Amino acid sequence: MKKKIGLVLAGIMLFSIILTACGGNSSNRQINNEENNIESEVQGLDSIIQKKKIVLGTSADYPPFEFHTMIDGKDTIVGLDIEIAKYIADELGVELEIKDMEFDKLLGGLATGMLDIVIAGMTPEDGREANFTDIYYEADLSVLVSKNNPSGIATIDDLIGKSIGVQIGTTQENIVQTTIKDAEVKSLSTNPDIVMNLKTQKIDCAVMETIVAESFAKANDDLMVVENLTIDSGAGGVAIAIQKGNDELTKKLNEIIAKLKSEGLIDKWLIEADKLSSEGL
Ligand code: ARG
Repeated sequence: MKKKIGLVLAGIMLFSIILTACGGNSSNRQINNEENNIESEVQGLDSIIQKKKIVLGTSADYPPFEFHTMIDGKDTIVGLDIEIAKYIADELGVELEIKDMEFDKLLGGLATGMLDIVIAGMTPEDGREANFTDIYYEADLSVLVSKNNPSGIATIDDLIGKSIGVQIGTTQENIVQTTIKDAEVKSLSTNPDIVMNLKTQKIDCAVMETIVAESFAKANDDLMVVENLTIDSGAGGVAIAIQKGNDELTKKLNEIIAKLKSEGLIDKWLIEADKLSSEGL
């Protein structure tokens, strides 16, 4: 009899242990869900307004979109994309925080919620894990070479077998790797690095957005853009990236883009950025 009671008691204990364990799991799950909710809220428009701040991710090596310059003796990030970000912050009535990062880390920063928006001359390429706004600047790619153009690059076929500098993680890296036969693709983390490799003849040419190639050519006497040679970037231009699924913020940003376009601000900011960047890069 004693044995039986003991067994029953042991059974009850085991049963309650199992129950507690299950209960524990479900409450954990609940906490996780709550955390997830908080995380997705952080990315929403309301939370940007609540925290009174929008965090911009950019890669300030791409004039005239974004680049470093000295203003009143202080290293400052300037350019078209920065003006767009300031305008967005003003429209939302929040402060702007800029995080200058390597280009290939930007989309990761959006996914983890570290960044609210990415404005970095970014192509809304298929397969990129993000929401994209409408295109705010139409652009294709061009080829930057040394002025004496020792490799004689004039047509797309002349790129076959050449060493070509591109930025890591960019559309141009992808395009050059997949479409130019026997190219020796040299992927570097920043565009000034690419320019330096070109100036020291470590590469034959570099591929980047036309307006950026022109900007580097203006700032460097020994460089030029190959005329009448453009490479389709596939998406027709550049856009703002937002965390995937954040349709509310995407919609709001599209309204803001339409507004600043109608006010002619893109052209105005480009001229200003161009002036600053041609003063020396
Ligand atoms: N448009 C290209 C891309 O999206 C290059 C952008 C590079 N931007 C930069 N800030 N360095 O891949």
